[in-house]
Amino acid sequence: MAGGTLGALGALSVATPAWTWSPMGSVVGAGAGADPRTVWDPEADQLVASLIQRGEVPRVNTLLRTWTKNGQALPAGLPADLKAFMEKARKLPAWSDPSKLDTAFRFNEKRGLYLGVLYGFASGMMSTVIPREARAVYYSQGGADMKDRISKTAKLGYDIGTANAFKPDGSMIVTCVKTRLAHAAVRHLLPKSPYWDKVADEAVPISQMDLMVTWHSLPTTVMRHLKNWKVPIPANEAAAFLHSWQLTAYMLGIKEEYIPASWDAAESQAKQSLDTLLAPTPEGIKLADILLGLGAQIDGTILSKPILGAFTRFLLGDEIAGWLKIPRYLLWDNLLKTAWGPFIAVREGLLPFPLAPAAYWTFDEFLRKFALLFLSEAQEISIEIPDSNNPN
Ligand code: HEM
Repeated sequence: MAGGTLGALGALSVATPAWTWSPMGSVVGAGAGADPRTVWDPEADQLVASLIQRGEVPRVNTLLRTWTKNGQALPAGLPADLKAFMEKARKLPAWSDPSKLDTAFRFNEKRGLYLGVLYGFASGMMSTVIPREARAVYYSQGGADMKDRISKTAKLGYDIGTANAFKPDGSMIVTCVKTRLAHAAVRHLLPKSPYWDKVADEAVPISQMDLMVTWHSLPTTVMRHLKNWKVPIPANEAAAFLHSWQLTAYMLGIKEEYIPASWDAAESQAKQSLDTLLAPTPEGIKLADILLGLGAQIDGTILSKPILGAFTRFLLGDEIAGWLKIPRYLLWDNLLKTAWGPFIAVREGLLPFPLAPAAYWTFDEFLRKFALLFLSEAQEISIEIPDSNNPN
């Protein structure tokens, strides 16, 4: 093991290679270069630990339910230390660029259907083979009710795509700051879970490295698939989409020196982080099974387990599908393999007529149903700070 500045915590797994990604490639082009596995979010973590110890979380959650818009004043009655932290945490960084955010919205509008399905499947199912995330999700409070948890997580994917995401009448800053607080609570709570403690390979969850790994499972993975599908994306839209996710990272408490400045820098970081650590865990396998079963509760035909399973195999590949014990569904597996490419080409106007008309409509229906589910469930939800773990 190299680069182990971890010392007393001893949370680095011996097999993990040194961190060599340079902060020169970050949004601020500089930084100490500390191994992100040894950095968490100290300011938020100390604050939320104290809120939990003082028994203030239920009261704070009730108050924060009324805080829904970025430009809205914080509710009266919040503890003074929390208020001070949130006033600071809600400020956008100097490098935030409103014109890029406008372009990002146009991109989201144009590509909303693909983005919905990719956030849900590529990113959502990938989270079950990110071992640390799967364990954290499974043993935290939210693990007890996956449907509720998914709607809460989908809220972030919804908010980031809205016209005013980061403007005063949008909600993305609120969603990010609340999520930052929720993560800080998880860092305090999970180490006390006897279940998590038994299987975890880190002393404290959700390090800066863990955050960036999950970040790459979102925009980087989505962009990889869009490229794979040959969806035409102008360079300014690609850069704008990245920008909206850079801001998201910042507002979630990720240090600027770890936030990639460009898609090239993001790719090089993903190769060192996300790509090397995907693996099955018993927790991830159970989570994947729950996720694949949820669609059928909404629409048993188009969102059935076989279709969702086949889609997961199509997006994440045979190896990951095998890890997750997803059966082969020959009909759907083959249909996706042969018809998805032409379907996208037709949708994008790159092919003059549908090669497989029946599949075309099924796929389109699938995209629309999925996006609808994503949008409708997510909007009215308030993200809360947990104050206990999953009791099971
Ligand atoms: C909570 C998003 C990274 C574990 C949440 C929530 C959102 C979210 C929106 C609130 C919804 C809810 O309460 O369920 C993100 C994003 C990330 C990220 C965008 C990276 C960019 C991580 C990582 C881990 C993690 C790396 C673990 C390794 C959790 C857990 C909860 C949570 C355990 C709390 C669930 C509960 O209420 O018990 N996250 N997350 N997240 N996240 Fe994350």
